[in-house]
Amino acid sequence: MNYQEKIKKSAELIKNSRFAIAFTGAGISTESGIPDFRSSDGIWKRFKIVTYQEFLTKKDAREEFWRMKQELLRELLGAKPNKAHNALAELEQMGLIRYVITQNIDGLHEQAGSKNIILLHGSNHEAICLGCDKTFPISNIYARLNEGEKDILCYECGGIIKPKVVFFGEPMPQKELFLASSLASQCDLMLVIGSSLQVEPAASIPRITFKNGGKLIFVNKSETDWDYMAEIIFHQSAGEVLMDILNRLKN
Ligand code: APR
Repeated sequence: MNYQEKIKKSAELIKNSRFAIAFTGAGISTESGIPDFRSSDGIWKRFKIVTYQEFLTKKDAREEFWRMKQELLRELLGAKPNKAHNALAELEQMGLIRYVITQNIDGLHEQAGSKNIILLHGSNHEAICLGCDKTFPISNIYARLNEGEKDILCYECGGIIKPKVVFFGEPMPQKELFLASSLASQCDLMLVIGSSLQVEPAASIPRITFKNGGKLIFVNKSETDWDYMAEIIFHQSAGEVLMDILNRLKN
């Protein structure tokens, strides 16, 4: 199939689906200027992964984490949704996509106007003191980093402050994981966009759909180990592909 045939077939699959959902990863936000994790210029090529246990117990690890977060926030705080986020929001308004399950913490699906969003890895919007549960807007933490603080502690109780995102080694939010797994088993079509599908358990969500007989459309610049599951694959940028599918559905 050439590109235009794949767009036509994708639009037909979406139009004829009973219950379609989207599953997104960091690749959907690179066109908004936010780096992903595992591409050649990805976050994990430049920073060390800090696990939850290390963050709780080692000052050095927290400082490494906040160096990474400061760089990410520089891009993230001013970022705007791109064509791919906007297309998904419009597909939801048209009643064609029912949910967006995302691994992203950047808030761009919300900004684009998607309503039914499941945040598997939390949100970067706020941070919380692990000592007294006081919450802080992330902009407040960013200001402290820019003033030169390296290990962000609570001014009131001295506790460790952590963004409300899921760290490696930290349990996943059970309600979100359960809901995502349940939707994945019910849907007859899943659009899988911008994820290397290397991080579990999130990466198992598309596999649930595949095992239950649902169809998958992959939109990912690079190949993944799971490409064989896809009915249609685009190794292209998400913004272009999703806009072309949306326009096809509107015409
Ligand atoms: N369009 C389509 N695909 C893209 C684009 C784009 N514009 N830009 C990048 N990609 C693809 C890359 O080719 C890559 O395969 O998106 C994928 C992003 O993969 P990862 O960087 O591994 O991101 P993700 O799968 O979301 O990572 C999962 O890992 O570190 C953790 O918690 C973090 O939620 C994240 C999780």
